[in-house]
Amino acid sequence: MFSFGVMASGGGSNFKALLEKVQDGSLRAKCSFLIVNNGDCGAVQIAKEFGVPTFHISGKTHPKQLEYEEALLGVLSNHPVDLLLLAGYMKKIPDSLIQALPERILNIHPALLPKYGGKGFWGMNVHRAVIENHEKQSGPTVHLVTSEIDKGRILAQTPVPVLEGDSPEELAARILQQEHRLYWKTVLDYAKTLKLIL
Ligand code: GRF
Repeated sequence: MFSFGVMASGGGSNFKALLEKVQDGSLRAKCSFLIVNNGDCGAVQIAKEFGVPTFHISGKTHPKQLEYEEALLGVLSNHPVDLLLLAGYMKKIPDSLIQALPERILNIHPALLPKYGGKGFWGMNVHRAVIENHEKQSGPTVHLVTSEIDKGRILAQTPVPVLEGDSPEELAARILQQEHRLYWKTVLDYAKTLKLIL
């Protein structure tokens, strides 16, 4: 059994998929907290349903960068975790957090990195670019988080075909289904590699 925290900003479908795998025993772990930078996001409701403590920490709650970072680190010191999982978190992770959990922060990105990653490649922009460039395939990547956005070591990917006439929304939906299958499994495998579980 190991522990993880999640950071999210959006609908939270990846967060929910992780919690479902904890609930059915496939992911032998405990989710200790959710951090959001948007108190109204869907992930907050999911945390309520699953009884996960939620912390809203953002530029609104903590306008000064130092206080914002201290608040994030405060959650970690009150709720120590083995892994921190980004699941649609839309803010850059501060270096202080990366240093507090070296090689222990994972992210899921909806394209086959190193392509279509980095600045500007978020949300539908990613899928729009993939379609405009007539890529034959795309798909999710799980990678370690470093101070360079979307550049950390790749842990796993799932190729998903781009179909003739796909809209960005259709492609995003097909990839999202694969994200839900890939993230928990990669987390489990990585926890084994780190010897957090057998
Ligand atoms: C996913 O597409 C993920 O790859 C990206 O943000 C999106 C989050 O979706 N990082 P959800 O909030 O988990 O539904």
